[in-house]
Amino acid sequence: MFSALRPLLFALDPETAHNATLLALRSGLVPQAAADDPILATRLAGLALPNPVGLAAGFDKDVMVPDAMLRLGFGFVECGSVTPRPQDGNPRPRIFRLVEDAAVINRLGFNNRGLEHAVVRLQARRGPGIVGINLGANKESQDRTADYVTGVRAAAALASYVTVNISSPNTPGLRALQDGAALADLVARVVAARGNIAVPLFVKVAPDLEPADFDTIARIAIDGGVDGLIVSNTTITRPALHSSHAGETGGLSGAPLQPLALAALQGFARATGGALPLIAVGGIASGADAYARIRAGASAVQLYSALIYEGPRLVQRIKAELAALLRRDGFANVAAAVGG
Ligand code: FNR
Repeated sequence: MFSALRPLLFALDPETAHNATLLALRSGLVPQAAADDPILATRLAGLALPNPVGLAAGFDKDVMVPDAMLRLGFGFVECGSVTPRPQDGNPRPRIFRLVEDAAVINRLGFNNRGLEHAVVRLQARRGPGIVGINLGANKESQDRTADYVTGVRAAAALASYVTVNISSPNTPGLRALQDGAALADLVARVVAARGNIAVPLFVKVAPDLEPADFDTIARIAIDGGVDGLIVSNTTITRPALHSSHAGETGGLSGAPLQPLALAALQGFARATGGALPLIAVGGIASGADAYARIRAGASAVQLYSALIYEGPRLVQRIKAELAALLRRDGFANVAAAVGG
C-alpha cells in the first residue's frame, strides 16, 4: 500500500503529505499488527513494553493518532511536543525531505494546538498501550521552565510518561536549558510538579553536546530524580549532505544523524553507568540499527524520519530483524542485551 502511495505523497509538500497521512490514520482503517514476538517484551523505567521500538515525538504533535500508531506495531508512542498555549510555529515551508540523504530538515517551531487540547485528547483515549507526552515551551514565554511545570501538572496523571524536551533547535534559546544551573533548576521544578504521581519523567537531549556535557547532564538527571534520557533530538550541524535542501535552517534527522546520535548515546551510557535508562533516537532505520543502540546502552529506541521513507511496514520489519539478532547472539530478551 505505502509503495503505491509513496510517489503521490512525495509529490506533495512534506507537511501537506504529513497532514494527509494523519487524516488517513484517523480514519480508523489501520490494520492491527501481528502480536509481538515475546523475546521483544521489555521494561523501560517501570513501563511494560510489548516491544522496544517507539514512535518519536513530532509525528503526532496533537495526540490525534496514538492508538493507530500502536496498532501499526509500535511498542510505545510519544505525542507532542505540546506547549502550554497553542502556537502556529514558523512560516511554511518548514519541513524538507532530503531524499538523496534519507534525511529530513524541519524548523516547525513547536506548531501545536496547545496543552488543553492535548489533555482532552489524552482523556478521550481508551484502551491499553504506552502513550507518552512530550512537553515544549512557548516561544514568547518569559519563564520557559514554568511552561514545563505547567505541562507536567496537566499531563502527569494522563500520560504513560512525560518527556521534557529541552533540545529542539527551532525555539531560540531553548537548548540553553541543558546547561548545568538551568537544568538543575528545571529538573528540581518538574520533579516537584510531578509530586507523588507515579509517572516516569524523561529528559530529551540534543546530539550537539560536548563530552563534558554528558557527565553534567547525567549527574543532574540522576541526582534530581529523572527516570530516563532520550538521546537524541535533531542536529543543527550539517554532516556531508547531497540534497539541494542541505542548506535549509532547522534540525536535521534521519540517516546522517545516526553517527552523532550513537556517539551521544555512548557518551551518556558511560556517564550514567547504567543508573538511568536511555532511549535511543536518531537515524534508526533497521533492526541492526536498533540492536546496535541497545548493545550501546539503550533500553528502547524511537524513530520518525525512516518512517517517511519506508512507510509503516518498517516497524514490523525492524522488530523481526531485532528478534533474529537477539536470538543469533543468544540473548533471552531485550534487557539482557542492553550494553554500555
Ligand atoms: C521532530 N522531532 C521532534 N522532537 C521533539 O522532541 N519534539 C517535536 O515536536 C519534534 N518534532 C519533529 C518534527 C519533525 C518533522 C521531525 C523529522 C522530527 C525529533 C524526533 O523526535 C527525533 O528526535 C529526530 O527526528 C531523530 O530521529 P529520526 O527522525 O532520525 O528517527
